[in-house]
Amino acid sequence: MESSLPDLEAILLVGGQGTRLRPLTLGTPKPLLPTAGVPFLAHQLARARSFGVRRIVFATSYKASMFEPVFGDGAAFGLSLEYITEETPLGTGGAIRNAAEALTSGSDDPVLILNGDILSGHDIGDQVRTHCERGAAVTLHLTEVDDPTRFGCVPTDESGRVTAFLEKTPNPVTNRINAGCYVFTRSVIDSIPRGEVVSVERETFPGLIDSGELVLGYADRTYWLDVGTPAAFVKGSRDLVLGRLDSPAMPGPQGEHLALEGAEISAEAKVQGGSAVGARAVVEAGASVVGSVLCDDCVIEGGATVQDSVVGKGARICAGTVVRDAVIGDGAVVGPGNELQGGVRVWPGIELPECAVRYSSDV
Ligand code: GTP
Repeated sequence: MESSLPDLEAILLVGGQGTRLRPLTLGTPKPLLPTAGVPFLAHQLARARSFGVRRIVFATSYKASMFEPVFGDGAAFGLSLEYITEETPLGTGGAIRNAAEALTSGSDDPVLILNGDILSGHDIGDQVRTHCERGAAVTLHLTEVDDPTRFGCVPTDESGRVTAFLEKTPNPVTNRINAGCYVFTRSVIDSIPRGEVVSVERETFPGLIDSGELVLGYADRTYWLDVGTPAAFVKGSRDLVLGRLDSPAMPGPQGEHLALEGAEISAEAKVQGGSAVGARAVVEAGASVVGSVLCDDCVIEGGATVQDSVVGKGARICAGTVVRDAVIGDGAVVGPGNELQGGVRVWPGIELPECAVRYSSDV
């Protein structure tokens, strides 16, 4: 059972460039991309608050000025928010050290650190309690994945102590990986070199393990997703809309689709599979939208099919077009008859002309 903690402080890492999510991240940083109808971070903020976090320091770098206009002082979430910006990106460890200047916690207090691109159903309160009870230097949330070869893996001994922080390998020793949510004892953050580029994954954690500090793993098998790639990003939004993961930040009821204010969905259109339809977006009669994210003001014309894809702000998908497992940038126009699939990305503002050759069995 989940339970909350009194007055916990957190640092949220949101300074990455989100290169794997280009072109979506050319104009909007990954943590602000619309996910189930709200900026991605809204889900993390609301969830952190539900566990008793009161104050969060945003560690910003890439497009740093875009965060405060969206979340302000945090009062709407019952939180107090601070924004700290790195002049040049300092990596995950350097960013944590830099943002720690704004913490009020004492040197023995636990501080929660969240990667700004993770959806997780785990019990943060229990992770923090475990950290405090065991007197650990750092406690890492670990999750189990089916294919650990794509990740670095994190073996532990029977007491939960992390024994190594291993790089990607074709023969991983465990399917447990770093899930991107840490509890640090404040004094350990202060021991990270200041003003330098540092990676917690490559330097801080291996260094602590080598020097015999207690680095604990907090493993569980609840919902977990890193939304770093287009396919994962679409899945995250879809799972939230479908109710596979609860979020206090959902702007409407969970179900087959979610439509924001001013969205126009024809009664003769099919919109399902956890699709999110942005404000003032239009889905015309005969269009089919499945498991996708439609951003504000985009148009899906009649007879178009959009599946497992993201359609950017103000983009237009013309009649008879198929968009499957693709990313369409803001303001792009996909002319009639095109078929885009298999991870295709269309850059913002690009206009693809009508496709003369139709993909049908008689071609
Ligand atoms: P990719 O470029 O697609 O790998 O994405 P990313 O830039 O977000 O990198 P990654 O997924 O490895 O980052 C993990 C978390 O750390 C994300 O929440 C990033 O926003 C954050 N992050 C990565 N590097 C920095 C940095 O230099 N400064 C700050 N403040 N945050 C960072």
